[in-house]
Amino acid sequence: MRRGFEQPFEEFDSVTDSSQAATTPSGGKLTPMFRQWQQAKQQHPDALLFFRMGDFYELFFDDARTAAPILGIALTSRGKGTATAAPMCGVPHHAARNYIARLVDAGHRVAVCEQMEDPKKTKGMVRREVVRVVSPGTIVDPDQLDPGTGNYLACLTGASPGPWGVCLVDLSTGGMVLARPGSETALAEVLSRYGAREVLVASTAQADVATLLAREGLGEILLTALDDGLFEPLLARDRILQQLQVASLAGFGCPDDHPALPAAAAALAHLQRTQRVQPAHLDRLRVDDPRRILRLDRSSRRNLEVVANLRDGGRGQTLLEVLDATHTPLGARALRQWLLEPLVERDAILARHAVVEALLRRSEVRDTIRRALREIRDLERLLSRAALGRSTPHDLAALRRSLASLPEVQDALGELPAPDARALAERIDRLEDLLGRLDAALADEPAAVPGEGRVIRPGFDAPLDEVRELARGSRELIAAIETREREATGIASLKIKYNKVFGYFLEVSKANLPRVPPEWERRQTIATGERYVTAEIKDLEARILAASERLAEREKELFEALVREVVSRAGRLRETAAAIAEVDVLAGFAEVAAREGYVRPVLAEDDRLEIRDGRHPVVERLLESGRFVPNDCVLDDARRLLIVTGPNMGGKSTYLRQTALIVLMAQAGSFVPARSARIALVDRIFCRVGASDNLAGGESTFMVEMTETANILHNATPRSLVILDEIGRGTATWDGMAIAWAVVEQLLLDPRLRPKALFATHYHELTELAARLEGLDNVHITVREHGQEVVFLHRIEAGPSDRSYGIHVARLAGLPDGVIRRAWEILEEISGEHLADKLQRQAGGARQLSLFEMPAPTPALAAGEADVLAELRECDPDELSPRQAHALLCRLIEALGDQSSTIR
Ligand SMILES: Nc1ncnc2c1ncn2[C@@H]1O[C@H](COP(=O)(O)OP(=O)(O)O)[C@@H](O)[C@H]1O
Ligand SMILES: [Mg+2]
Repeated sequence: MRRGFEQPFEEFDSVTDSSQAATTPSGGKLTPMFRQWQQAKQQHPDALLFFRMGDFYELFFDDARTAAPILGIALTSRGKGTATAAPMCGVPHHAARNYIARLVDAGHRVAVCEQMEDPKKTKGMVRREVVRVVSPGTIVDPDQLDPGTGNYLACLTGASPGPWGVCLVDLSTGGMVLARPGSETALAEVLSRYGAREVLVASTAQADVATLLAREGLGEILLTALDDGLFEPLLARDRILQQLQVASLAGFGCPDDHPALPAAAAALAHLQRTQRVQPAHLDRLRVDDPRRILRLDRSSRRNLEVVANLRDGGRGQTLLEVLDATHTPLGARALRQWLLEPLVERDAILARHAVVEALLRRSEVRDTIRRALREIRDLERLLSRAALGRSTPHDLAALRRSLASLPEVQDALGELPAPDARALAERIDRLEDLLGRLDAALADEPAAVPGEGRVIRPGFDAPLDEVRELARGSRELIAAIETREREATGIASLKIKYNKVFGYFLEVSKANLPRVPPEWERRQTIATGERYVTAEIKDLEARILAASERLAEREKELFEALVREVVSRAGRLRETAAAIAEVDVLAGFAEVAAREGYVRPVLAEDDRLEIRDGRHPVVERLLESGRFVPNDCVLDDARRLLIVTGPNMGGKSTYLRQTALIVLMAQAGSFVPARSARIALVDRIFCRVGASDNLAGGESTFMVEMTETANILHNATPRSLVILDEIGRGTATWDGMAIAWAVVEQLLLDPRLRPKALFATHYHELTELAARLEGLDNVHITVREHGQEVVFLHRIEAGPSDRSYGIHVARLAGLPDGVIRRAWEILEEISGEHLADKLQRQAGGARQLSLFEMPAPTPALAAGEADVLAELRECDPDELSPRQAHALLCRLIEALGDQSSTIR
């Protein structure tokens, strides 16, 4: 049967109350039930309304039309042929989570409207209310969340071009961050760094923000408009103080006039409205301060494949994947954040390195810690669900197991010979009081829901034990009746059974009916016999019912009290969760360092970067062990900028990126893939890739390339590291070279810039710059030649590379021999020329040849064709009358026609 037996549809069919003549979209009059639906819908017009009716959630009208195809369920109609005919579809309540998840994934919001009263106990219509709105930014259901990433909702104030106030809230972990990006680009960077899934904005700003997000390639983020009134700046600060339960924001390093405060207040108001609870676990604040992190703009992060690869945006073959040896979701999320926000403060970085070193050396301590970490669940999200009143008994059991492992982690950390490890250990609170409460109250293996007496441990609560005993005693008594009556009546097949509608009854088969005692009361006739009850059974049943109701009530009460106990320790739990997250990341760093042979980087006091035998952490793992060729990289005041030349596929890009990644890893607290590394701290890393190396492709890539290059010239400092990989490629060759040349000059000559920089280029001419510019040096990737064969050595050496190996590569790639031969000829011809000649030739229209744009060989011109061309070159169209032009054209065509046989 599709419905619960309480028949919710009676109310649907009840007569329309004409005093409130609301109508359906199709003009029909609404039943009282539909009026209730409409009221709920009006409160949440932008959400699909899941309207609870008995065992189902129903969707109506447009909601049903939208949802049915996404969910793959049938669109039906309620009240067909009547004035109130309504398209509808429905899902069973026990499977609703799944369906809601699918709609949210498809970019919708879902408002869940529950029955607030028990239909069995209510006369007339049950009261219904929207109990929460689920949208991408407000998910807390663990099934719908990636354990390794936060789930941020962003709320914005401000207008283009900026500055903006941004509050980022993770309802699922209790994280709250304020940021003040000064430009649209900076805004997009913050949103993507936190992976914001939904953006809240005042309704008047909605259109502008939608355009902005689309322009920045963030169009997939769901935009939700809020009442402008929620952003009232005058009340914002007080609202936040109240939320955080503090008297001043100073403790969070947040100024009273932070531009994101109104956004934070609006976000909190929105959450309270949509979640129907005070999100008490949002009781801390972090101020996003770009000066305290190693900054990476979006495209640099993308190009370095820090947390997502360029191929499919996944985490395969990324730095994150290589470094992630964490055992807890807490650690996985922290690692991600550390890689997105490496540090710039020396002491903080040294502290991380010190712990990793201790954990690397004492592998038995590391193993103990990592074994204990495996038992620790997602403390942050467990706490958040508790605060939102959405804990399950399994959540509390998971919490109990996690807490039980804390002492092991703490003790082991305390053993390490590093003050920083001990400081970290001290931040772990064993929460023994809470563990004690959970142990005492919670059954060893609690049932999934409270209410049936299998969640609270027997012996914990006397009244609960009493009702549990009562219910059990009565059940046993009923069972005893079966045996007794079987003997008394001689009906061997007599059974006492139970169902929801009739309760307990005696079932007698047809053949035995004559033996039924007269005092038994007939309840129901079934095909195979009759069902009876007795006064005794009815009495016991009433007692069982009363007892189970009290049992359910009491157990739920006790469970909720236990959840409150958890929430009352929110601060301590969260501090501990943060410490555990750090331990997990650092133990993971040590594990990876041991496995991959990384070393502790030294933080230089001066400005010298010196990597000996550095490797690319991702590429080296793709190769057979030992096949990756390590390389040095030294950059200091005398060698500011290296021009890296060498054949295609030689390893230029790999070399550039490994240098940037090693610096990034070091500043995130990790050890690094090198024999030794001395790192001068860096404030920003820029990584640009020329258009033809850029997978995106398309017409505007050169524009993008230049915009990004401009960004470097505006923002780099002497402490920055700049990686330029074949920029200038996206345009006609000599333009590109001229631009690359000018960029290099500017980087070195402008004293505000002078970053450390690596510039891979196929413009050989740039190597000539070394003679003219101080601080510039050439290196090249070596190859060994065997006649026309070539072996890539992937080794960096001093000086420029002397020629292009593109043709060798082309051969390896299988270009036909004829083409290869012709290419050698052409190379021969042009390689004798000087730069000036080349420039001139370029002006004449020739293009530099590079491997992937090599044109098909042009056959030599037939003599007649050359004449035609010569004549064309000489003629001046302005001098020709239309008639003369026509004559000329005819003559040339004729001349060509004569030659056609010799060409083909
Ligand atoms: N140091 C190295 N040791 C071993 N193989 C390398 C090394 N550097 C690069 N490679 C290999 O060469 C390929 C091409 O490298 P890449 O850096 O893209 O070359 P380029 O940028 O010069 O065209 C890489 O995919 C990798 O397989
Ligand atoms: Mg390359």
